[in-house]
Amino acid sequence: MEDTLFKTILPAEEVAAIVVEPIQGEGGYLVPPAKFHEELRRVADKYGILLIHDEVQSGMGRTGKMFASEHFGVSPDIVTIAKGIASGMPLAATIARADVMTWPPGAHASTFGGNPVSIAAALTTIELLEEELVENSARIGAYMLDRMSTWTKKYEIVGDVRGRGLMIGIELIQNKSSKERAPELRDKLEQLAFERGLLVLGAGPNTIRLCPPLVITKEQANFAMDTLEQCFPLLA
Ligand SMILES: Cc1ncc(COP(=O)(O)O)c(C=O)c1O
Repeated sequence: MEDTLFKTILPAEEVAAIVVEPIQGEGGYLVPPAKFHEELRRVADKYGILLIHDEVQSGMGRTGKMFASEHFGVSPDIVTIAKGIASGMPLAATIARADVMTWPPGAHASTFGGNPVSIAAALTTIELLEEELVENSARIGAYMLDRMSTWTKKYEIVGDVRGRGLMIGIELIQNKSSKERAPELRDKLEQLAFERGLLVLGAGPNTIRLCPPLVITKEQANFAMDTLEQCFPLLA
């Protein structure tokens, strides 16, 4: 950004904010190194740019911490949250430091914003997260990642297993020597798993995402992993 982007097509003083997902969702459940987020924070501070973390997918306990940014030790100026915040009731929130929220009341409104039923669902969700579900996400997620860490060695078509908490991506490749992405194997795996009672969804071109409800038990996690292990040989 500093060596090329700011010097050629986008002067830093014209940039209001950098928006980034701490852990990428639709892009393929990608976990960046901490240095990536540290550098974005450094560049934002140096040029007076706001740093916005989009925690719509990764927030509210999904990654085993309340917010995924906590894994990287980096604090954003603004955080966006939705999806898990109200356990399925429609709600989203923008949270920022007080000195960024300088607009007067009513300046940033939404017709259906702040629906009282959704707010009640969110308050209970936050209570459950704080009481036990963030911890459950960290515990079951670590258990799953530990069991699946052998899969890249065990299965020719598994290129990578990565994630934090219950935000786990399994990347499918053609084979270990070419490491070529295998989107068609990923789609077939979705179907085979579905036929065996397991709902999984793709993310990015060739990744299967595991994004279970945070109430998942160890037994349910094992069912998911057993089912995937039954499917892999059928893809060869
Ligand atoms: C990371 C991320 N940000 C934002 C959105 C949009 O969220 P909403 O539907 O609450 O506008 C999505 C939706 O998939 C998302 O995955």
